[in-house]
Amino acid sequence: MHSVITPAIMYWGTPVVLITTENDDGTANIAPISSAWWLGHRCVLGLAAASQTTINLLRTKQCVLNLPSDDMGSYINAIAKTTGSPVIPPVKQALGYEHCKDKFTRSGLTPHPSDLVQPPRIAECPVQMEAELAGTTELMQDMPDRKGFILAIEVKVIRTHVQDELRLPGHSNRIDPDRWRPMIMSFQELYGLAPKKTVSTLASIDEEKYRPLTVSNVGEPAAEKDKVGSEEAYEDAAV
Ligand SMILES: Cc1cc2nc3c(=O)[nH]c(=O)nc-3n(C[C@H](O)[C@H](O)[C@H](O)COP(=O)(O)O)c2cc1C
Repeated sequence: MHSVITPAIMYWGTPVVLITTENDDGTANIAPISSAWWLGHRCVLGLAAASQTTINLLRTKQCVLNLPSDDMGSYINAIAKTTGSPVIPPVKQALGYEHCKDKFTRSGLTPHPSDLVQPPRIAECPVQMEAELAGTTELMQDMPDRKGFILAIEVKVIRTHVQDELRLPGHSNRIDPDRWRPMIMSFQELYGLAPKKTVSTLASIDEEKYRPLTVSNVGEPAAEKDKVGSEEAYEDAAV
């Protein structure tokens, strides 16, 4: 049996990302979000236009995408329902948000200098991706009174840092999915992943075969870079 329902929001379950950005006075802001999806070295973020994070990201064109593990709930809860915006937007006022200027101090998280961008990494997060703004699209363009309220923001990952414990032994650039335990937000509650349910047919594809298609060679020596994106590389990819 199925019933027709109208959920107020489609929070079906996605990994939490702690985005760090730089405020206009040079201090750092953190925002927990969960509207994020990944393809190649690109990430598309769903962000409220009025959030301090959005304002910072559009101004500086830089951020760090820090991925918390499923045991980091207390850090996330400490800064949930807060905004770095000095003037709290009416929607957030109605939802009970309060202003927090320094979310590192509030959460107990530790800033760590990034290599290529100004916003700091979050030391406690097992995965930290330094990223640059690549594009912005306004959502709900079909609704004049809501248009631009939420943005889809494409960022380009330019450097990825991972905790050594997450790496797949014997491979230079792979994550062991049995070791990576991301925090998942589903309908506002926080979860981890269950163990692997079935052997995946897709996983029979060599992960490196995706690299030429997505130009995911950031950080590779120049000779390898030249090949990526070429016709030869696409033929090699065979996917
Ligand atoms: C677990 C979690 C997931 C969230 N997901 C999103 C999201 O996907 N997009 C968004 O705009 N806000 C999301 N929020 C709300 C933001 O954290 C909130 O807008 C916050 O005020 C942003 O901070 P800022 O204004 O300092 O940038 C989420 C909050 C939590 C705790």
